[in-house]
Amino acid sequence: MAGSCVGESDGLTFWVAEQKDYDDVMSISVQIYGGNDYLPHRYASWMTEPDRVVILGRRDGKLVALESGLIVDEGCTVVVEGLRVCPSERGRGVAGVIQRFADQYIQQLYPSVRTKRQTKADDPSAGPTQTLSKFTELGRRAALSFIGEADSFEGFISHLRNKLHSTTGSEPGVSVPQMVLIEDEQQLKNILLDPELPSRVQLPGGAIIQDWQPLQPIKGNLEILARRNLTWLADKPERPAFLSFYTPPYPIPYKGGSLRFNIDMFGTDLVSAKRALAGHFEKVSERREVKGRVMVHVYLNKSLWEGLREFCEGYTGVRRCREYWEQLFLERGM
Ligand SMILES: CC(C)(COP(=O)(O)OP(=O)(O)OC[C@H]1O[C@@H](n2cnc3c(N)ncnc32)[C@H](O)[C@@H]1OP(=O)(O)O)[C@@H](O)C(=O)NCCC(=O)NCCS
Repeated sequence: MAGSCVGESDGLTFWVAEQKDYDDVMSISVQIYGGNDYLPHRYASWMTEPDRVVILGRRDGKLVALESGLIVDEGCTVVVEGLRVCPSERGRGVAGVIQRFADQYIQQLYPSVRTKRQTKADDPSAGPTQTLSKFTELGRRAALSFIGEADSFEGFISHLRNKLHSTTGSEPGVSVPQMVLIEDEQQLKNILLDPELPSRVQLPGGAIIQDWQPLQPIKGNLEILARRNLTWLADKPERPAFLSFYTPPYPIPYKGGSLRFNIDMFGTDLVSAKRALAGHFEKVSERREVKGRVMVHVYLNKSLWEGLREFCEGYTGVRRCREYWEQLFLERGM
């Protein structure tokens, strides 16, 4: 254990994570999120990401917990992510201990941080929501999950395109208008910094949630979004009423190795959501960004879930792999 200890509390010592801790971190991460864990893939980039703090908790030298925070919203907010406690230590308050230390450590480094935000999965079929008691719920989106082999995506896209024709009543052979690909930096900036964007596309809690990371649509966050290499689609090039993007697919541990393909949608128009879904699948296939088994998660306004589920039905190569579930967006003061 090189590096230096940055604090201790309740029998744990705290350390700033380094690349060499990767194997230890993976050893406490087995089976997290049913194999959908992003950390095996993201850990290396977290080590060098600006304004990212990753804290490890050890008991007698052994890694027992990890918590991370990214400073966003021009220094006002920390978005916490990655929280995990090793299975043998769960249920004894360790998550609270490492979070209290991380909060205080982050505030020392970034005194401008006033607010802590996080997202969390919620399964309404499991009973009343267990919202974390000290947090306020700012927003909630539905999640629609599929699984399929990348080889079957082409057939799935044709299936979606055919269904779009019947939905929109367009003549066979006449293509349904595509969503607009927003590639120009200035054009994207105009869209994101438009003060009416949050109400026009119904941003949950006023934030763009990018693959579980809530960011206010403000200038200081544009660089963070640019880092993520997103593919943006909109219903129109200016003042869109529907906005959507996908994060480049990345490897996850699911069933010994799969890809995770996350699509975030903002807006309430079902036809736009259908066009966006088909558009994202087309782009990701065209660019050969997927291979092998792919887990697809679409995060969208709750009112669109049923319609989009129905839209995707009827093609065996890509099938739904999870019942309705939700993404919660939470906030508390520091
Ligand atoms: C969720 C997990 C981190 C909880 O760890 P734990 O040490 O067993 O949690 P405990 O119930 O003993 O600790 C309770 C404290 O942790 C907090 N806590 C528990 N789950 C939390 C969560 N998901 N997010 C934030 N805080 C959480 C509680 O609010 C409580 O805080 P308090 O002491 O300030 O009151 C652990 O079960 C785990 O690693 N699960 C797998 C990964 C995962 O699901 N991470 C959560 C991502 S949102």
